[in-house]
Parts: sequence; C-alpha cells; structure tokens
Amino acid sequence: MTTTTWDSVYDRCAAGYDPHVGHFAVLGYRLVDLVDPLPGERVLDVAAGRGACLFPAAERVGPAGAVHGVDLSEGMVAQLAADIAGRGTANATAARMDAQALTVAEGSYDRVLCAFALFLMPDPGSAARGFLRALRPGGRCGVSVPMRELMPGDRAALSELFRSFALRAGTAAGRRPAFGMDTGRLLADAGFADVRVVEEDSEFVFADVSAWWEWTWTVNVRSFYERLPADLLEEFRERAFALLEPAVTREGLRATARTRFAVGTRPGGPGM
Ligand SMILES: C[S@@+](CC[C@H](N)C(=O)[O-])C[C@H]1O[C@@H](n2cnc3c(N)ncnc32)[C@H](O)[C@@H]1O
Repeated sequence: MTTTTWDSVYDRCAAGYDPHVGHFAVLGYRLVDLVDPLPGERVLDVAAGRGACLFPAAERVGPAGAVHGVDLSEGMVAQLAADIAGRGTANATAARMDAQALTVAEGSYDRVLCAFALFLMPDPGSAARGFLRALRPGGRCGVSVPMRELMPGDRAALSELFRSFALRAGTAAGRRPAFGMDTGRLLADAGFADVRVVEEDSEFVFADVSAWWEWTWTVNVRSFYERLPADLLEEFRERAFALLEPAVTREGLRATARTRFAVGTRPGGPGM
C-alpha cells in the first residue's frame, strides 16, 4: 500500500478540525453541489475528514441512498464515526482506507467525491484510477484542490515569513503540499470523460489573528509548526501576529481561498 506522509498529522488535527470559519464545510458543500448526488444513490467520499462532503451528500441521497466515507487517518475516521452517530445520520458510515488503494467493489458507486486531499497524496494518479473503477458506467466523480494556501492579510509577506522560518529550521520544515494540481488532466488521464474544471474564489473571515492561528493548527500547516524548535515557533508566532494585526478590520481578518473543482464521468453510461 502506498501511504502518505500526511496521515499522522491529520490524526492530531482531527479533534479540532476546521473551526472558526468552516472553510472545508463551505467548500465541501460546493463540491457536492457540482457532483449533484440524487435521492437513492450510493456515494463514496474519499479522504472524508470530518465529513465536509459526507453530510451534505447524505442529505441529498436520503434514506434510500448511502454515503461511505473513507480516510487514511484513524483519528479522522474515529471522529467522523462519532459525528455520524451524534447527528443520527443513518445512511452514512466511516472506515479507514487509503485513497490510493481503494478496496471497494468495481462499479459499486454512483458518485465519488474527494475534497482537498489529492494534493497530499504521493500517487494521485492511482487514486483517480481507483475513483473511476469504483463508479458504475455513467457515474460521476468530483474532486477539489486548493490553488494556494489560505493566507489572510498581506499574502506575499506572510508567505515570505513561512519561507524564511522554513529555511532557518532546515528543509524538512519547508515541505509543502502540491498546490494548484492539474486535476482536470488527472481525471482525463485516469479515463474520465466530459471533464469539466471550475476555479472559484471564496472569502473567509477569521474573528481575529488568534482565530487564524488556532485554525492553522487544525490543518496541514500544523506539520510545519511541529517541525520548528520551540524558540523558533514562538518567534514565528510573534512575527505572524505582528504582521497580521494591522490587517484586522471591524469585520475581522479576511482570507481568500482559490479552489479548483474538477468533475468527470465514467464512460459507458446510457447515451455515451
Ligand atoms: C484537508 S483534509 C480534507 C478532508 C475533507 N475531505 C474536507 O474537505 O474537509 C485532507 C484529508 O485527507 C486525508 N488523507 C490524506 N491522504 C490520504 C490517503 N492517501 N487516503 C485517504 N485519505 C487521505 C487526511 O487524513 C485528511 O482527513
């Protein structure tokens, strides 16, 4: 099995994942919208996290349908299973699985979703080919990836701050996910037809700099912080706060996300 280097950081992110602005919840909802699951359908949500796609998909497919969320991180799966039980979402389940080696029956789903995860995987091509196999002919897949980090305030200055501290700490701390992945090509190369790509900007507002700081600990930025020695981390925090405080307005601290959504269909369905 090809494993990712990011799954253990998500174990530590799982409990407090995506607080404050609901960034993943909003963008997960949007992906579900684009993929448009219908009542009674079966949906596979790959790298489901805390269910940003799973819950809106479960609502759409209704009691006659089913949504199966899978994720590599045990922590995420445990939290998601608890969320499913807590909300009483009877048509959803959660299980541990590597997106790059899906063990689901061929052709067993009407829709496959994968939000904000392909860009973390060492072998996204295997994952995309697995999504195709999981779908029935005519079934639809939708994936989303960030085009860049969600950064509030002066993006260039904050990026430079991250870069300079990564350099000071050594190259391991500079490891970044593959932002801006060409998911349209990825789906086409995997064999999907009718591939459509949409790029959208969405604005998120953090209440203040502390809210942004806490949020960053619940996403993969955490692995950067965890690689900084304690004194560098504290210096980074102070410098980031000093940089961002002037950007806080009465509304809060704004950040714009740019997301690439790609949707494709497994060939061979009616009329194809
Ligand atoms: C940024 S989160 C996105 C979660 C969710 N889809 C959302 O939109 O909120 C990335 C998720 O991908 C999962 N992940 C990373 N690599 C994976 C892999 N190879 N297989 C399955 N899940 C993976 C992580 O554990 C994490 O839950």
